[in-house]
Amino acid sequence: MEIRIINATETLPLRSAVLRPGRPLAAAQFTGDKLPTTKHFGAFRDGQLLGIASIFLAEMPEHTGLAALQLRGMATAPEVRGAGFGRALVVACVAIARENGAEILWCNARIPAVGFYQKLSWEIIGEEFDIPDVGPHFRMWRPLTGQ
Ligand SMILES: CC(C)(COP(=O)(O)OP(=O)(O)OC[C@H]1O[C@@H](n2cnc3c(N)ncnc32)[C@H](O)[C@@H]1OP(=O)(O)O)[C@@H](O)C(=O)NCCC(=O)NCCS
Repeated sequence: MEIRIINATETLPLRSAVLRPGRPLAAAQFTGDKLPTTKHFGAFRDGQLLGIASIFLAEMPEHTGLAALQLRGMATAPEVRGAGFGRALVVACVAIARENGAEILWCNARIPAVGFYQKLSWEIIGEEFDIPDVGPHFRMWRPLTGQ
């Protein structure tokens, strides 16, 4: 498996299939996808894109004032789940975030994904909240200033 930088358009088929199923491809576009400060990562095996993750320049609501990046669009193809693709993508995002001087990486985690982030040393902050049309989430974060 190999992690590479990809562009916003390349994320759309997998993002749509995993995170916005049954909706038009356009529903998988995020505001800011094409900003120069946004980076998209792809996890490839045998040339096939099987995992995606993106990081956006965005303050964390609970820690405004700290240099922060938001992880969004985290998804792996069902046939490779549990095989380390998600972990490799998050590791790549952490490395780039550190290189760019971020102090915090954060995300809005769907409830079924909370255990995944916890496994990677992310922590829940605050109470459960709802994102319309997507469902219940917890804010999670990973400080980048320590180990
Ligand atoms: C969440 C998701 C990205 C995880 O990707 P993945 O490729 O399966 O993750 P990995 O194989 O790298 O897993 C890393 C570790 O976390 C564990 N893990 C993975 N998903 C988990 C989950 N939902 N709950 C608890 N632990 C989980 C794995 O077992 C693995 O543990 P190990 O290192 O002890 O073997 C993937 O399940 C997915 O795309 N889900 C649907 C979309 C989604 O919910 N995205 C997140 C939106 S916030």
